[in-house]
Amino acid sequence: MCGIVGYIGKRDVVSVLLKGLTNLEYRGYDSAGMALQDCGEIKIYKTLGKLVNLKNELENKKSELKHPSSGIGHIRWATHGSPSLVNAHPHTCSCGKLVVVHNGIIENYKELREELIKKGCVFRSQTDTETIAHLVADEYANTKNLEEAVRNSVKKLQGAYAVCVIHKDAPDIIVGARKHAPMLVGIGDGENFIASDTPAIIEYTKRTIYLDDNEIAVISQNSVKVTDINGHEVIKKVETLPWEPVALSKLGFKHFMLKEIYEQSDVIRNLLNGKLYDIDECVKLDEVKIDKEILKNLNKIEIIACGTSLHAALAGKYIIEDFAGISVEVEASSEYIYRKTTTNASTLVIGVSQSGETADTITAIKQAKAKNSHVLIITNRPDSNMARLADSLIPVNAGIEVSVAATKSYTAQLISFYLLAIHLAEIKGSMEKSYLKNIKHELIQLPSKIEEILSNTSNIKECARKYSSYKNFIYIARGINLATAYEGALKLKEISYINATGYPAGELKHGPIAMLDETMPVLSILMPGGITYEKVLSNSEEAKARNAKLIALTSSDDKNIDALFDVVIRIPKISEILSPALTCVPLQLLAYYIAEFLGKDVDQPRNLAKSVTVE
Ligand code: F6R
Repeated sequence: MCGIVGYIGKRDVVSVLLKGLTNLEYRGYDSAGMALQDCGEIKIYKTLGKLVNLKNELENKKSELKHPSSGIGHIRWATHGSPSLVNAHPHTCSCGKLVVVHNGIIENYKELREELIKKGCVFRSQTDTETIAHLVADEYANTKNLEEAVRNSVKKLQGAYAVCVIHKDAPDIIVGARKHAPMLVGIGDGENFIASDTPAIIEYTKRTIYLDDNEIAVISQNSVKVTDINGHEVIKKVETLPWEPVALSKLGFKHFMLKEIYEQSDVIRNLLNGKLYDIDECVKLDEVKIDKEILKNLNKIEIIACGTSLHAALAGKYIIEDFAGISVEVEASSEYIYRKTTTNASTLVIGVSQSGETADTITAIKQAKAKNSHVLIITNRPDSNMARLADSLIPVNAGIEVSVAATKSYTAQLISFYLLAIHLAEIKGSMEKSYLKNIKHELIQLPSKIEEILSNTSNIKECARKYSSYKNFIYIARGINLATAYEGALKLKEISYINATGYPAGELKHGPIAMLDETMPVLSILMPGGITYEKVLSNSEEAKARNAKLIALTSSDDKNIDALFDVVIRIPKISEILSPALTCVPLQLLAYYIAEFLGKDVDQPRNLAKSVTVE
């Protein structure tokens, strides 16, 4: 949510900030803005909507700029105050000399605002962020030291913030501070960067310092200083980013989402590499740092996640319970944090998150840690805040996912659950070796089966064309593919804005069936040979009897369904327990093509942001 980038150095400041913001645009696109230190003046540019508008504005106003030496930029995902020009960042103090960009939510902003108004501050926006600008300016009036002013101010803030501050009278520095929102410093030669996330700086440097909560960074052209909330200097580790800039290229695909869907076979190969070599050998999961004896006797696992990661977690429950016979609870992080849980020291808590920055999941993980549980994090971002909280960490290594709709990270999370479940089963001896051998064999074959699906998508495209004008969809499944039904419906909803809901197929007749008629396509996920096949087929018949259009997602060996369904989408033959790793792919494509036919903004759907860093 919201992206921040700051730069000080000899390059073209506007280009560096625009490039950084472009690579952060997945974090929000309600408005964009930039403040530049330009030969003794601070110049501010803001536009509504996507970053392209700011690019055009800056292009038109190029002649106004002399030689900017530093600046801070922002893209907004609106929380407090509507997406309007007046609410767009950067925000300034009353006199305009001090400028702030912010990601997060200041919970006590109303009280602070009232106090500052009493002191004579003039507020222009409805944002919580503007309070920070006035607060720091008020402190600066006393200290005449920007770092001190920021430190004194953040002590008064409640909530979450990553802020960058510049002042007209301190043109050689940018000050950043964070609490419960990500922020890092990029170290260059004769230049430095500060940003919400690594993609903002990857084009320029791989050397990074991750700020921790309550730390304050002061960057100048040739120095970086980090202090704690009391002003004591903190010696930070300089880490090297694992990403390459090419990861941020569409590589000829029309959208990042399509590119990321096509990357899934390689993602699985990568993930299996080093963990599953041979079906006769045990899965190697050295990442799980729990004593084998403890794992053997483990009787409860809790998985916490949001959105797509929550759907992967739901599939994970089925997989772990099936292979390892351990009871698994799955819960949305936002629910977990507001109830009395039974989590304790003998519970293994698994947090699943693509970004590793989802605020609700981070809070939930902290709560679990406070109860002394072992916390295992499955994430695509081993450099994230969540990863730093982990006792054990499974990095899914899917590569940077740019499209807001998660695709390849979902598949990678699923594969992580298969590996984890096999690992647990092998430790506990809970499954026949021959059964696990078959599973491993199928896992190794998954990448080529995904390639088979991706090599011919005309049927899915045709289905998308046929149904793109429908306003409501129901996705049904039973058992492990219920997670697929939820995830497929979410994909369609988020990128095409069509109302799509996933239901357990058996629940259809307990209410939702009332909605069915010829305007409501029902997509059924069937796995021939699986324990739920016959039942989902009968539930589909019930839908047909109410005139619903029927779409089947089934495997190539399903011979007896063509008469019942209007459209049949097939995947290669696979066992039911492993099928979610394949069934998700056509549903990602179906959502993609429908959104494409409707002319939607596939990679940046409205109202969404990829990294949900507010609760
Ligand atoms: C949907 C999507 C979101 C995220 C959710 C959790 O395509 O991307 O539903 O899955 O916001 O994000 P992470 O996985 O980063 O914790």
